[in-house]
Amino acid sequence: MGSSPSVESKMSEAHEQVHLSRLEVCGMMREELLSEQEFHQSETHIFIVVGASGDLAKKKIYPTLWWLYNDGLLPEDTYIVGFARSKLTVQDIKKQSEPYFKVSAEDALKLDTFFKRNSYISGQYSDAASFQNLNQHLNSLPNGAKANRLFYLALPPSVYHDVTRNIKETCMSSVGWNRVIVEKPFGKDLESSNRLSEQISSLYKENQIYRIDHYLGKEMVQNLMILRFGNRIFSPLWSRDHISAVVLTFKEPFGTQGRGGYFDEFGIIRDVMQNHLLQMMCLMAMEKPVSTNSDDVRDEKVKVLKSVAPLNLDNLVIGQYIGNPDGQGEAQEGYLDDRTVPKGSLTPTFATAVLYVQNERWDGVPFIMRCGKALNERKAEARLQFRDVPGDIFQGQCKRNELVIRVQPNEAVYTKMMTKKPGMFFNPEESELDLTYGSRYKDVKLPDAYERLILDVFCGNQMHFVRSDELREAWRIFTPVLHQLEREKIKPHPYKYGSRGPAESDELMQKVGFHYAGTYKWVNPNKL
Ligand code: NDP
Ligand code: BG6
Repeated sequence: MGSSPSVESKMSEAHEQVHLSRLEVCGMMREELLSEQEFHQSETHIFIVVGASGDLAKKKIYPTLWWLYNDGLLPEDTYIVGFARSKLTVQDIKKQSEPYFKVSAEDALKLDTFFKRNSYISGQYSDAASFQNLNQHLNSLPNGAKANRLFYLALPPSVYHDVTRNIKETCMSSVGWNRVIVEKPFGKDLESSNRLSEQISSLYKENQIYRIDHYLGKEMVQNLMILRFGNRIFSPLWSRDHISAVVLTFKEPFGTQGRGGYFDEFGIIRDVMQNHLLQMMCLMAMEKPVSTNSDDVRDEKVKVLKSVAPLNLDNLVIGQYIGNPDGQGEAQEGYLDDRTVPKGSLTPTFATAVLYVQNERWDGVPFIMRCGKALNERKAEARLQFRDVPGDIFQGQCKRNELVIRVQPNEAVYTKMMTKKPGMFFNPEESELDLTYGSRYKDVKLPDAYERLILDVFCGNQMHFVRSDELREAWRIFTPVLHQLEREKIKPHPYKYGSRGPAESDELMQKVGFHYAGTYKWVNPNKL
């Protein structure tokens, strides 16, 4: 059963209230949502965390549910049920996730109330009887048989098959609605992803499946649509006529931190580029959707992907970090020193790729995606670089304009531009128009990406979730080159832990048309 459009529009209205505190947003949404007929049809919700003993559940899912509860945002009558193989108690669940809860002293009592709404069942993922037991438990909760059910699969893909089948056959509510939230990786290539999609879609309708890409829950990623389609100043410039390059960047200042075993199976292209950066690219490149309805937005994203040819090796640089003998602690160790990484692994921990959107708006404009671990800083951003000013009268002193949307850390939107150097001068100087969230929205707490997304699932809003055709197109673009890298055992370029990545990446960017002037200096007004 889907949700009414009015619930969706209430959701997006509330999301637009960035000037309100999280609590205010939550309060407003809940009151309005609870007045919806749909929420009254079945007022009880059960959130089932399948894989409740795992890392994701501990670090993200339980803390997110707690924040939503603490902000008064979960529907009143919500129960949380953990399911996993380990024999655990609710007390164990509480203990393992508490370090991530950020509980203040005055909220301690509330935390106890939150855990009174929790229960835990242990069972085997492939065992129908375990799911029958789970279902009996769900039915035994107050109004449980009629409750709406949200199943969060915080599990490795190897058990998806059994779990999705068992849920479908045994645990679905026949009165309330049922929604299933799945986490990446959604396969390893086009074929495995299609297999997974076919299996899931043979059991559930597309409007019951919520594929999470948590970057779609980030404040500034959501802001891309408002900036583009809510302003007249940018839209006439947003094309090949004015833009020389679009750069999407993800940088992390730490390595695999003992998680190399998992990472090595995937590598940075599958881990970050094929999903988080590609989603950002779609939002930068897509045409204005007919409305903010989930499917209208996703239709436009799919059109972008369909206009992109598969990535080829000439447009790709891969890297792998090596230890930095001058670094501190972990920085001295390279990727291959991580004991969980197979010896001699060729898995990339860094990649720069250039894609082209072959349509009238973007023909010839490089979309440069860069991502890497163990780099010099933490940063995620989208950057538009504009073309040179034609007919220069300032003897080459003008630098290209750039519009930067910084996703993290310190959310900001800034436009690098030329102004007259103040005072008795008549020459241009690099400066910026700067919307730094920390200064402009001082008292606003921005919700965590998972908070927004989990709330969206309660409300039935799929706009910020990945549709199956988006996923298929994303894998179509990356699968051939991923297979080629593996087949031909292509060696990644080494780069030092804590550096900006391999020099070959800057060379590729320059080759396709991104100009780095190296002259821009930002003066942080808060530090003047
Ligand atoms: P820069 O001109 O310093 O950098 C522009 C781009 O070039 C970045 O994408 C950078 O990415 C890349 N780059 C850096 N070195 C090279 C190189 N040698 N070859 C090729 N590319 C290179 O401008 P920024 O926009 O990055 O601004 C500089 C600093 O000022 C940043 O730290 C920024 O966050 C800060 N700032 C903050 C604002 C705010 O908080 N509101 C407003 C304006 C600026 P990379 O180094 O990642 O490769
Ligand atoms: C995950 C990747 O999807 O995103 C991780 O699997 C990465 O490797 C993480 O560290 C980054 O997320 P965030 O929100 O910290 O930028």
